[in-house]
Amino acid sequence: MNETPRVLLVGAGAVGQVFGKYLQAAGCELSFLVKEKYADEARHGFTLYELGILEKDPEPTTFSGFGVQVSNEEVAARRWDQVWLCVSSTALRAGNWVGELARATGEATWIMLQPALDDREWLLQWIAPERLVSGMIPFISFHAPLKPGERLPRPGTAFWLPPMSRGLFSGPPERLQPVIRTLRAGGYPARPTPDVVRDVAIPSAVLTVFVNGLEAAGWSFERFLQRDSLEHVHRAAREAVQVAASHTKGSASTVLPLLRPVLFKLLLPVAAQLTPFDLETYLKVHFTKVGEQTRSMMRTYVDLGRSAGLPIEHLQAASR
Ligand SMILES: NC(=O)c1ccc[n+]([C@@H]2O[C@H](COP(=O)([O-])OP(=O)(O)OC[C@H]3O[C@@H](n4cnc5c(N)ncnc54)[C@H](OP(=O)(O)O)[C@@H]3O)[C@@H](O)[C@H]2O)c1
Repeated sequence: MNETPRVLLVGAGAVGQVFGKYLQAAGCELSFLVKEKYADEARHGFTLYELGILEKDPEPTTFSGFGVQVSNEEVAARRWDQVWLCVSSTALRAGNWVGELARATGEATWIMLQPALDDREWLLQWIAPERLVSGMIPFISFHAPLKPGERLPRPGTAFWLPPMSRGLFSGPPERLQPVIRTLRAGGYPARPTPDVVRDVAIPSAVLTVFVNGLEAAGWSFERFLQRDSLEHVHRAAREAVQVAASHTKGSASTVLPLLRPVLFKLLLPVAAQLTPFDLETYLKVHFTKVGEQTRSMMRTYVDLGRSAGLPIEHLQAASR
């Protein structure tokens, strides 16, 4: 990789803008690949708000000075060191753009951040394992204002990196190290781990079933925490955890005893207190935006569970 990494971020939404900010701070030569409908907005630059636990009225900062590409032809005309996939799991599979982009970006390292259990396997159709780095997203980002009536100097993207959070990545060392080094140089808390897909599989399974249940409860914490709703979610979450553990050759034995309805009752109000934004609204807005991804992940747990001969009765009932 050259001294100034040439980085292409696919998708300039809530996640792409935040990674872009850190990569630019690290001195990368940055471009976004966006859909034509977002190109003008991207060319004007973005407004970011970094939230802190005590700082509820952050100042806007302008994020600009990057290239904007809208086609694979434009991408193919340049050389790239890193390609970051900042789109949902379902967007990955929409059409055949991933294969085409893989051909247009030569030997670049690809960084995937998608949450579905089978995303890495799916991407390996197009990207050789020697070039693929996997990561997770420890921050929360959203279009602000989040709620009507919230006052901000101007609309933008707000993001919150919880204290002590770590952005885990894994992959072949000669591809992983430059990614970690670059992110750290930009102030991002990147850490290597042997297998991030396995590390996040169980938390992601619980989150997915929780969000699916929250949607069924009309995105209301109060309705979600009622006895019937909690009972269904907790049973489906236990099944999803077992599927996630089996698929990633991990172990669910420490998590399953803790996974009780009371856990949601205890954690949800605490989480709502700690986040420097309205958590209930964020969950509704964000997971409505990526609703198809949640439904697809639920179907994946059912399918993988069935193939592995694991119990899936509650997952199946919860899937829509
Ligand atoms: N935001 C968070 O707090 C957060 C936290 C953890 C994980 N994640 C995960 O991160 C992923 C991205 O989330 P996000 O919040 O950044 O979503 P987002 O704000 O919708 O951003 C994704 C952007 O990529 C665009 N896009 C889709 N396919 C594309 C393609 N082929 N080429 C170029 N652009 C494309 C989308 O366009 P359209 O608008 O037309 O779809 C959208 O503008 C999701 O899997 C999400 O679950 C997000």
